[in-house]
Amino acid sequence: MMFNSRNIIIGLIIFVGIFTFPFVLSAGKANEAPKLSLDTPVINELGTEECLLDTEYMRSNHMQLLADWKVEVVRNGNRVFVNDEGREFNMSLQNTCLECHSNKEEFCDACHTYAEVDPNCWDCHVAPEVVK
Ligand code: HEC
Ligand code: HEC
Ligand code: HEC
Repeated sequence: MMFNSRNIIIGLIIFVGIFTFPFVLSAGKANEAPKLSLDTPVINELGTEECLLDTEYMRSNHMQLLADWKVEVVRNGNRVFVNDEGREFNMSLQNTCLECHSNKEEFCDACHTYAEVDPNCWDCHVAPEVVK
């Protein structure tokens, strides 16, 4: 009795292992985050390695920041954003974000394609011309 059920369990473990092996292998590749290029004329010229706000914060909150900017500009008529270090920026999707990140395709789009999000902003806002 004992012997049999143990063999069944070992057999099951081996079966599950063999069966899931290819998925385990490909999972790593499918989940690999895109490489984001920061190689743009403005970022290179500024010699900056920083975004407006902390990178980690930007990664998870840029959508909210942009939504807030839109409200500030369109509803409150305020166009000046002051960051944590007291630096001022024009609250503009195309003239601020995309001035630095002018490689939209290799930056914003690369990440959005990976995350399967498709912001509709560029139905109205002008995307930069592809700069190489
Ligand atoms: C002054 C140039 C500049 C401006 C303006 C700017 N960025 Fe950035 N941004 C950078 C740089 C440089 C990095 C890389 C920071 C790092 O690697 O730590 C970055 C990083 C990011 C990241 C994180 C990328 C990652 O590695 O996950 C996001 C998202 C982002 N920016 C979005 C935006 C958005 C949206 C705006 C406008 C609201 C904006 N940026 C404005 C220069 C800029
Ligand atoms: C590190 C990855 C990453 C980078 C780089 C990135 N995004 Fe995003 N973005 C996301 C993710 C993930 C979401 C969806 C978040 C959610 O649904 O909560 C998103 C959502 C958005 C949204 C909201 C879309 C909607 O319909 O609600 C906007 C706007 C946006 N991103 C703009 C930008 C812009 C502009 C850039 C380039 C300057 C950029 N993003 C770069 C990952 C990124
Ligand atoms: C239906 C057209 C339309 C769409 C779609 C749209 N916007 Fe706008 N947006 C406007 C108009 C019009 C203004 C006002 C322009 C001004 O006063 O400078 C504006 C202003 C803004 C501003 C402040 C001013 C500026 O130059 O950027 C931000 C930030 C902004 N929108 C972000 C977004 C984001 C992020 C998305 C996508 C999630 C988006 N918008 C989608 C039409 C649109």
